[in-house]
Amino acid sequence: MSLTDLRTTTGHVVGRVEDVPPGEGRAFVAGGTQIAVFRLRDGSLHATQAACPHAGGPLADGQTDVDVLVCPLHLYAYRWSDGAATSGATGVRVYPVREVDGDLVVDV
Ligand code: FES
Repeated sequence: MSLTDLRTTTGHVVGRVEDVPPGEGRAFVAGGTQIAVFRLRDGSLHATQAACPHAGGPLADGQTDVDVLVCPLHLYAYRWSDGAATSGATGVRVYPVREVDGDLVVDV
């Protein structure tokens, strides 16, 4: 399978890795779904739904570390490992994301 096949048959290219500064998140659309992609300072990538399930907060503007994403509106925290809320509230959907030749590829 070529890199082109990998990009187009298993996910959506949403942008370039450099579009997301280290330690921050950015909002994208992947296959018609609004998502937020984060590039952590350790180089890892994470993706989740764009809107917080609590009250629609912009998760791309949240603070994050290697374990959790914190919504900027009411500070609910969601685990990257499975999207569960640490408070027991409704969790977020997380999506596989990877870099392919500098592109951000998200499976939605
Ligand atoms: S909108 Fe995200 S915690 Fe309330």
